[in-house]
Amino acid sequence: MAGRFITFEGGEGAGKSTQIARLGARLEARGLPVVVTREPGGSPRAERIREAVLGGGAKPFGPLAEAILFSAARLDHLDATIRPALARGAFVLCDRFLDSTRAYQGLDDRIEGNILRALERVVVAGTRPDLTIVLDVPPKLGLERAAARRTEQGEGADRFEAEDLAFHERLREAFRTIAASEPARCVLIDAARPPDKVEAEIWHVVKDRFGSDLAAATARRRAHG
Ligand code: TYD
Repeated sequence: MAGRFITFEGGEGAGKSTQIARLGARLEARGLPVVVTREPGGSPRAERIREAVLGGGAKPFGPLAEAILFSAARLDHLDATIRPALARGAFVLCDRFLDSTRAYQGLDDRIEGNILRALERVVVAGTRPDLTIVLDVPPKLGLERAAARRTEQGEGADRFEAEDLAFHERLREAFRTIAASEPARCVLIDAARPPDKVEAEIWHVVKDRFGSDLAAATARRRAHG
């Protein structure tokens, strides 16, 4: 069985990692193999690019160079982590993917749409997400959540968190536009609500989309006692 590729997108502090962990636990409890990964990063080589980009080292080169670096990281992540996991039949849950490049690097048309699409075509090729959960949260709330988490972990704001509120407002609109333009792939979820509510809605969507995988896993478990 080929696996399923689910990506999580949204602005800062939308709660992606919490929701990924919860969905992963639900799938595993049903006997399904799960691989949790993230971008930028997700493979040893891509993690090295992550350090450079999120540390701000690539900012002076401009958005196109940043998009190319995120894409280089993605190329390796796909080859080293995502495609092998899908080939093994795993549910791959990925924290950010191509929509983050569209939204962040493509914000305010800083990069021509056809250049971004060409990059996607060569890098992502046929490995498009089966489902993309877009967690939507007012940026003020998201940034507060992200700042609280960083303080807890003793870290400073990273490259994009440090942008102003207006940037994050436009980013939210960019994600909402992506979700609206690809309704077959994307589901927009109100993530300002308590995590349990968000988790329940995501589970509803996943059961709806992948009900036959869940049923097959249950049948396999029954057959093996
Ligand atoms: P991360 O610490 O993973 O933050 P978050 O919890 O918000 O996901 O940082 C990832 C940052 O990189 C985030 O600010 C979004 C940005 N990013 C891009 O700008 N383009 C991309 O293609 C990706 C994958 C991430």
